[in-house]
Amino acid sequence: MQFDSSQFIRDNMRVAPVPSVPEIRLYTATPASGLRRLAEKGGKQRPPYWAYQWAGGLALARYILDHPETVAGRRVLDLGAGSGLVGIAAAKAGASAIVAAESDRYAHAAIRLNASENGIAIDRAEGDVLAGPPPAVDLVLAGDVFYCKDVAARMLVFLDRCLAARIAVLVGDPGRPPLPRARLRAIADYMVTDVGDGGARTPAWVYVLEPPADRGDAPTV
Ligand SMILES: C[S@@+](CC[C@H](N)C(=O)[O-])C[C@H]1O[C@@H](n2cnc3c(N)ncnc32)[C@H](O)[C@@H]1O
Repeated sequence: MQFDSSQFIRDNMRVAPVPSVPEIRLYTATPASGLRRLAEKGGKQRPPYWAYQWAGGLALARYILDHPETVAGRRVLDLGAGSGLVGIAAAKAGASAIVAAESDRYAHAAIRLNASENGIAIDRAEGDVLAGPPPAVDLVLAGDVFYCKDVAARMLVFLDRCLAARIAVLVGDPGRPPLPRARLRAIADYMVTDVGDGGARTPAWVYVLEPPADRGDAPTV
């Protein structure tokens, strides 16, 4: 019988309000969830990032809900969507369409369930979005995508393609080492919990990604 990842999530995770963003409820891992079983099904061990909320995504989701004009009526790409938290916040704040880009197939099951739990719709970007041209969106939201050096390098190349196409980019991050700090202008900060730091409270920032110095101004956020 084929493995049903949506059923696994429904059976083993519980729906709970998100700390710092209680307007949104997500399927959340508990100590009894046994998420390791999912990695075993997938054949290779991959951390279930989608099962947790990350400091950068929390700050970005909070910012969007506090400043709905940032996304209202705009098409949004939730890059490295994980649970879908940031895209769900954008939909609740009035974005006209949300596309979620994720490289983890279980994340897409979680995003579908989480979107439905919050009464909104999110489309799925097909394939490796980082490998192609920017999709037809007005704004990219990148919650905690600079978490390791290799991924960060690919993300930045793609985000630069977005800026060149006049698509604005907002980044949420708690200041992880691979963050391209010289290219970021902070516009807000929040205290949030960070799963990557054992659930400790940590500051996290929302930034505008600026183009390289020789390539003009950032698109309007
Ligand atoms: C640290 S998590 C952040 C998740 C979510 N944005 C949040 O803040 O809660 C980063 C996510 O980026 C995803 N990711 C990594 N490489 C990717 C790629 N090439 N395309 C799409 N997503 C990717 C990972 O699978 C992971 O879910």
